[in-house]
Amino acid sequence: MHSPSAGRQADTFPVTDDRSALDAVARRLTCPHCGAAPLQRDARSLRCPRGHSFDIARQGYVSLLSGRRRHRGDDAAMVAAREAVLGGGHYQPLRSTITALVAEHSPPTTRLVVDLAGGTGHYLSPILDALPASWGLTVDLSAAALRRASRTHRLAAAVAADVWEPLPLAGRTAGVVLSVFGPRNTTEIDRILTADGIVTLATAGPEHLWELRDRLGMIGVDPRKADRLRRAFAGFSPIAGETVRWRLAVKHDEARALVAMGPGAHHLDLGQRDQAIDALPGLTGITAEIDVAVLRRHR
Ligand SMILES: C[S@@+](CC[C@H](N)C(=O)[O-])C[C@H]1O[C@@H](n2cnc3c(N)ncnc32)[C@H](O)[C@@H]1O
Ligand SMILES: [Zn+2]
Repeated sequence: MHSPSAGRQADTFPVTDDRSALDAVARRLTCPHCGAAPLQRDARSLRCPRGHSFDIARQGYVSLLSGRRRHRGDDAAMVAAREAVLGGGHYQPLRSTITALVAEHSPPTTRLVVDLAGGTGHYLSPILDALPASWGLTVDLSAAALRRASRTHRLAAAVAADVWEPLPLAGRTAGVVLSVFGPRNTTEIDRILTADGIVTLATAGPEHLWELRDRLGMIGVDPRKADRLRRAFAGFSPIAGETVRWRLAVKHDEARALVAMGPGAHHLDLGQRDQAIDALPGLTGITAEIDVAVLRRHR
């Protein structure tokens, strides 16, 4: 478990006082153009030692994207839908499970928790309450998500970066990496984790939202996913894990939001979606099934 006072002496990373999270996290960020570090904050930007400068958005996040954008993050409608579902407490069982597992297994030296493809920071925020000696960083591509993520917690900062590219973070810097329903780049996760760091993965299980998927013809969960994940994290061993299963009780507008926040949202015919949802009972039970795994490097 964490001992904030012991941790505070052990590391030059600033202790958690009321300075802005971005000031603190900037010390662990690297320049996406030249790789130099650390970034220093001035009034409106972060600067690298060689003079590259990155504006801080009014909402508090910083874009550290370099070059051409090959991927797009979620658009505003998807983020609003996810916020409605998560804000309605429908994924609370998953949120508490992730928080508890991270609190139990994170190394006591953790000073930074990085939430990759972290969206609005929904899963990062309670972890920062549980590990008060740590700062948090959400990495995502979606401006709509980052606007919220930068305000999710006073200890959390947010940057725009593509998880498929080298991350603008120093090596061996994150005691905890979260990857909840997002694309994952194992090479970069391995590079940024501290020697005893943990990565916490959450992935949809085979029955996740099956009632909606069946009715709407949405893409299912790839049955080889667990194998692929094991191979991708070959240098790691699972140290804890749980399948979290519960039933969501949703009304029509919430069912629409569940579909709109999902990976297949772009490919769906909205008329067809609404017709299928209108045919459901006023309150419908939908299965949620999510595999959570905590991994650490082989020792
Ligand atoms: C299914 S959402 C999950 C968000 C968050 N982890 C949660 O569970 O609430 C996937 C997220 O990945 C982001 N994303 C997609 N491709 C990305 C990429 N290449 N780099 C960074 N973020 C990406 C999207 O913008 C979106 O916020
Ligand atoms: Zn630079």
